[in-house]
Amino acid sequence: MTGGGRGGCVIALCQNEKSKDEVIKRWKDENLWVLDLNLHKITARAHANIALVKYWGKQDEKNVIPYNSSLSLTLDHLYTDTTIETANKDEFILNGIKQEEAESEKVFKFIDRFRELSERKNKIRISSFNNFPTAAGLASSASGFAALATAANRYFNINLPRKELSVITRFGSGSATRSLFGGFVVWQKGEIPYAFEYDSADWDIAMIVVMISKEVKKVSSKEAMRRTVDSSPYYPAWVESAQSDIESIKRAIKRHDFVTVGEITERSALRMHASMMAAKPPVLYWQPDTIKVLQQVESLRSEGFECYATMDAGPNVKILTRKSQVQTIFEKMSKEINKDNMIICLPGEGATIIDEN
Ligand code: DP6
Repeated sequence: MTGGGRGGCVIALCQNEKSKDEVIKRWKDENLWVLDLNLHKITARAHANIALVKYWGKQDEKNVIPYNSSLSLTLDHLYTDTTIETANKDEFILNGIKQEEAESEKVFKFIDRFRELSERKNKIRISSFNNFPTAAGLASSASGFAALATAANRYFNINLPRKELSVITRFGSGSATRSLFGGFVVWQKGEIPYAFEYDSADWDIAMIVVMISKEVKKVSSKEAMRRTVDSSPYYPAWVESAQSDIESIKRAIKRHDFVTVGEITERSALRMHASMMAAKPPVLYWQPDTIKVLQQVESLRSEGFECYATMDAGPNVKILTRKSQVQTIFEKMSKEINKDNMIICLPGEGATIIDEN
């Protein structure tokens, strides 16, 4: 203990993380100001997620308020690891390359939200690694901002539960809110949108990611959304159909009705793309191989396989299928697509701290 009378502070030396967390919790419950001195380096991992009912369009861009709720599946094999450590100046390193100010600006604006909530105001170095191509429609911004939010939540000693963390995470990227959770996840629209796990997806579900192009996309999803909202005559129809799709897919998930989940998944992607193709100027992410894979999926279905396609803001296709059929479908797909360009995924877990010292 330091100081005297009614002031001063207590410094507690804790034997392990568990006791430290408990001490912090009890003090915070007493409304005491608590600073965790021990955290200098935190690493978090968050997995990518693929929306089955897509998020497409913001009512309020500044406050990242979506027009429609969305629902996704978190994937085990695609992830971002992000380390935050104390530094002399703010720095952002992505896949080993130091980012220029323009690229770092959005990241540190996001970090400032955590600094504002924290007693810690110091500078940090952020190092982020994706184990898959960045910005090619493989949801790197989702896993990226979810990993960053999870690491910052700990580093800045804020320790919000995931649902509350999702409220801040949306300022990085709307889809990132869903990567905080595992399994099937909803991002619920509303005045204060938030994400939550809807179902653990612990049933016969798998996904194959088919990489058609690893190039960075020319039109960002943010810009494509804005264009669609502002100029596509099909946008109101999109919002209406997304809303009814969310309700139907939730019911289908609860009764493990794979066919309905698959049908909604495929039509949600096609309707989203139809709405952006009708924008002015139009947004067309597809490449010839996108259509080839879509047709292959359709023909596998006519052979009796359970598989459905979805695409995001890029040319790549993801195939929602059964865990029990995924290997056979992978082999069949490999007649047209190089095996190295396909990744088999199962449902993944929510974002976690993987290292701290
Ligand atoms: C097509 O989450 O990248 O992947 O909120 O502007 O960062 P911002 O958009 P972002 O958009 C994702 C769009 C999508 C569909 C989805 O993941 O729901």
